[in-house]
Amino acid sequence: MRDRPLILGGLIVFLALVTFPVWYNAAAGTSSRPPQLKLPAGQKECVAPVAFMKTSHMQLLIDWREGAVRNNVRTFTAYNGKTYNVSLTNTCLDCHGVQARAGQADFCGRCHDYAGVTPKCWNCHNDRPRN
Ligand code: HEC
Ligand code: HEC
Ligand code: HEC
Repeated sequence: MRDRPLILGGLIVFLALVTFPVWYNAAAGTSSRPPQLKLPAGQKECVAPVAFMKTSHMQLLIDWREGAVRNNVRTFTAYNGKTYNVSLTNTCLDCHGVQARAGQADFCGRCHDYAGVTPKCWNCHNDRPRN
């Protein structure tokens, strides 16, 4: 009988520890959910399959840049035969939307903030895409 307060106390400590992640996130106003990305309306495909884009878009952009700046390669033929202009703002952001980049993040920036990366591209590539 005299163990009752001890057991109860132990239970409370146990519950507090087990639910820690839940109320910690609630208190900090953060969440462990992945970022909610806003995809372009009415578009189905990216310039490469989405699984590739998720992991390798930075490499693709570097290839685009080096091709354009060093070899004047200005068009890109995609896996599905479609061709695109090689341009960070006029192609990627024209489709993904003005809100996509850093600062007004609902795509690139939203994911980069979550992942803790800060690409410096926008320092220069800050012209408005067409849309
Ligand atoms: C110091 C300024 C500067 C920074 C920072 C910069 N760029 Fe560029 N970028 C340029 C200039 C200038 C060109 C040449 C424009 C042209 O010839 O059309 C260019 C061209 C490009 C092109 C091909 C043409 C186009 O319109 O997109 C790509 C793609 C590109 N850069 C990607 C990137 C990426 C990705 C980053 C970040 C990792 C980046 N750049 C950072 C200045 C910059
Ligand atoms: C014509 C429209 C269009 C263009 C141009 C385009 N995208 Fe996309 N992008 C999409 C669509 C639509 C999806 C979602 C595809 C899906 O879910 O199957 C997507 C997906 C992505 C993803 C993966 C998002 C996720 O769900 O994790 C990344 C990263 C991405 N794009 C980056 C880029 C970059 C960088 C460029 C330029 C090199 C670019 N996109 C050009 C339409 C486009
Ligand atoms: C699904 C999440 C996601 C989306 C959406 C996304 N990125 Fe990224 N991006 C990342 C991650 C994660 C890294 C860091 C990868 C690493 O360091 O290996 C990264 C890195 C980069 C880099 C290299 C930065 C550097 O300094 O090395 C560039 C450039 C870049 N992203 C451009 C873009 C552009 C442009 C868009 C929007 C059109 C975009 N990303 C959308 C997740 C994303």
